[in-house]
Amino acid sequence: MSLTLAIPKGRLFEESIKLLKEKGILHADLEEGRKLLIKANGFNFLLVKPADVTVYVENGVADLGIVGYDVILEREPNLYTLLDLGIGFCKIVVAGRQESKEKYFKETYVKVATKYPRIARRFFSQKGIRSKIIYLSGSVELAPTIGLSDYILDIVQTGRTLKENKLIVIEEVTTSTARLVCNKASYRNKREEIMDFFNKLM
Ligand code: PRP
Repeated sequence: MSLTLAIPKGRLFEESIKLLKEKGILHADLEEGRKLLIKANGFNFLLVKPADVTVYVENGVADLGIVGYDVILEREPNLYTLLDLGIGFCKIVVAGRQESKEKYFKETYVKVATKYPRIARRFFSQKGIRSKIIYLSGSVELAPTIGLSDYILDIVQTGRTLKENKLIVIEEVTTSTARLVCNKASYRNKREEIMDFFNKLM
């Protein structure tokens, strides 16, 4: 039985392919082009949006997936997390304008734009701060600049996007790396193949 793997397109793609090659799972590069289903080395690779990886794995159309911990925290998917792959390191942070930093720590109510509404809601509720969470699917860094929100909760990797939009990190929520996740039924039914894959990655 061949395994199907959901691979995130975008910033985690290169690192994922590099890791799979280093571990001898892939022998040649996969091209991040228009083709979304690629067969290589006896595996089927699905090239999908990072935030959708868990959807493919949860529903069993992919047996395995590579996905950021940020997505796992946000979606709380019903699957197994097998391994921290140690790639795709980033931080989930609250950021805002320089002049908002001092005010932030005194706030009892915050307006926050984010791609991660569940993480944001949980984070502020645990701090005992009321929040209005404004969901955006991208370009979140624009929100404080134009007054849509006071703060953002987002991932930071190089810090470039924050800098270019004159925002700073105000508080760190947590760190994130990519994880290998597995469909629960596949874990039972394709155990041998999955263990073989897992061992190669170790
Ligand atoms: C993420 C995140 C930030 C940016 C941070 O977005 O939402 O905007 O990367 O990276 P940096 O610290 O290296 O600048 P992404 O580029 O994944 O795209 P998106 O906004 O379309 O989701």
